[in-house]
Amino acid sequence: MSEATHPYRVLFVCLGNICRSPAAEIVCRAALQQAGLAGQVVVDSCGTASYHTGSKPDSRMIAALQRAGYSYGGHRARTLCAADGARFDLIVPQDAENYRDVCRVLAATHAAKVVPMSHWFPAGTRHGEVPDPYYGSEADFDEVVQLLAQSMDGLVADVRAAMAARAQS
Ligand code: 4NP
Repeated sequence: MSEATHPYRVLFVCLGNICRSPAAEIVCRAALQQAGLAGQVVVDSCGTASYHTGSKPDSRMIAALQRAGYSYGGHRARTLCAADGARFDLIVPQDAENYRDVCRVLAATHAAKVVPMSHWFPAGTRHGEVPDPYYGSEADFDEVVQLLAQSMDGLVADVRAAMAARAQS
């Protein structure tokens, strides 16, 4: 299969893979659908820590996604591994600690694929990273979903551009 016919692959990464990155995965799928790119992009998520491996997303995050109108399609937490560096085209850590951990696990040759979620935050947001809601309130979970929703069209636009550039090469 040529480079151009490979689906583009995006991986969202957080700590536990039960709150932020599964939410990013769901919000991204909705944005891709909206952009007419569903089916052309593979979206996945994982955590840098293994203590929730095999778990479903946190019920508080599923509830926040549902309050914002997203439907949850099922996910089990898994841990980032070195092979993810070659498997994905874009790897998106949710916070600065996730970024450092991703760079530790992946070979340096894949470093250019790693772009923090904050790269797509709307201008004027008070956050420098996707805040960890795990010990937070319902409002903190809602804020994560809102921040992801506000950022995802920008990420999808960049994915579209990267796919177009790849098709030209
Ligand atoms: P996530 O949130 O990284 O967004 O999935 C967390 C999940 C679990 C823990 C911390 C953050 N924990 O400490 O168990």
